[in-house]
Order: sequence, then structure tokens, then C-alpha cells
Amino acid sequence: MKFDIRPTSEEDIRAIVEIENVSFPAPWTEASFRHELTNPKAFFRVAGGENDEVLGYYDIWVYAGEGHLLNICVAPEHRRKGLGKALLENALAAAQGAGAREVYLEVRPSNNAAINLYEKYGFVRLGVRKRYYRDGEDALLYLLVMSEEE
Ligand SMILES: CC(C)(COP(=O)(O)OP(=O)(O)OC[C@H]1O[C@@H](n2cnc3c(N)ncnc32)[C@H](O)[C@@H]1OP(=O)(O)O)[C@@H](O)C(=O)NCCC(=O)NCCS
Repeated sequence: MKFDIRPTSEEDIRAIVEIENVSFPAPWTEASFRHELTNPKAFFRVAGGENDEVLGYYDIWVYAGEGHLLNICVAPEHRRKGLGKALLENALAAAQGAGAREVYLEVRPSNNAAINLYEKYGFVRLGVRKRYYRDGEDALLYLLVMSEEE
């Protein structure tokens, strides 16, 4: 499948919000995505396909030697084609390039697809954040410590 991962632009936001709304029980708002366009801590990127169609996206913050993966998502019709892996690899490389030595993320215990993806890349479960999500679900906290040579 042909795609490239590039910085998100203003024109991508509408498609991102559509994918977000069908992907998460408590989706980010358009305003929160717009804010990320100019957030200096954020690497906010999309996987663009034919005619620049948005296939997926991620948002990772990097500061003080730490990365925090805040969002990663693939459009439902393009899942299970390796895009999630490509986005995660790109996010980890961006974080490491910006000086992160470790990356944190939260994930719902019910989200098997994402948990499998993260564990495949060496993320380890640190614990539970009780009632972390707006709808009351707990979050699992995961950490990846990156090796120097990656
Ligand atoms: C999680 C998500 C990003 C994975 O994207 P994807 O493009 O389907 O992932 P890939 O095709 O690269 O698959 C990578 C690995 O993830 C795991 N995985 C992906 N979908 C899965 C599923 N439905 N069930 C179990 N494992 C799954 C597998 O380990 C897979 O490796 P494999 O194909 O070798 O078995 C996608 O399911 C998604 O966007 N979900 C909704 C948004 C979301 O929950 N984001 C994470 C928030 S914490």
C-alpha cells in the first residue's frame, strides 16, 4: 500500500476529525487538533495516500527527554495493512530524534488491537490510572525505554 508520513496541515483536519469520531468513544475535538498544528512540543503527522487522502495520524509530544504518545489512529477501512506499525515507528523515530529516551502512553484495557501493537514494539505495562478517561474507563500506562543505538 502506497502512503507517506508527513506533517499535518490545516487541510487535513476535517478528515482527521471524521476518522477520530468513528474511532474513539471520547474523540478529540477539532479545536484540540488545530491546537496541535502549532504546538512546539508536538510531532503531529498524517499518513497520506493517493491524492493526499488521510489514512491515519499520530500526535506525540516530546519534552525533557520524554515522549508521550497522545493519539494514534488509522481509518477503519485501512486497518490491518501495516499503517499502525508505520505510524508508530515514525512517532518513535521522531521522539528519539528530538532527544526522548523513553515514551509513555495510556490505553484502554479493552483496546486489544492497540495493546498488541504497543507490546510488539516493546512497551511494558507500568500500571493503571483509575478512571482516566472521561467516560470512567481506567487507562493502562505503558512505557518504552529506547536503546541508544535505535
Ligand atoms: C490500533 C490501530 C492504530 C492499529 O492500526 P493498524 O493499521 O490496524 O495496525 P497494523 O496493521 O499496523 O497492525 C499492527 C499490529 O497491531 C495488532 N493489531 C492491529 N489490529 C488488531 C486487532 N484488530 N486485533 C488484535 N491485534 C491487532 C497486531 O499485533 C498487528 O500486528 P500483525 O498484523 O502482525 O498481527 C488501529 O486499530 C486503530 O486506529 N484503532 C482505533 C484507534 C485507537 O484505538 N488508537 C489507539 C489509542 S491508545
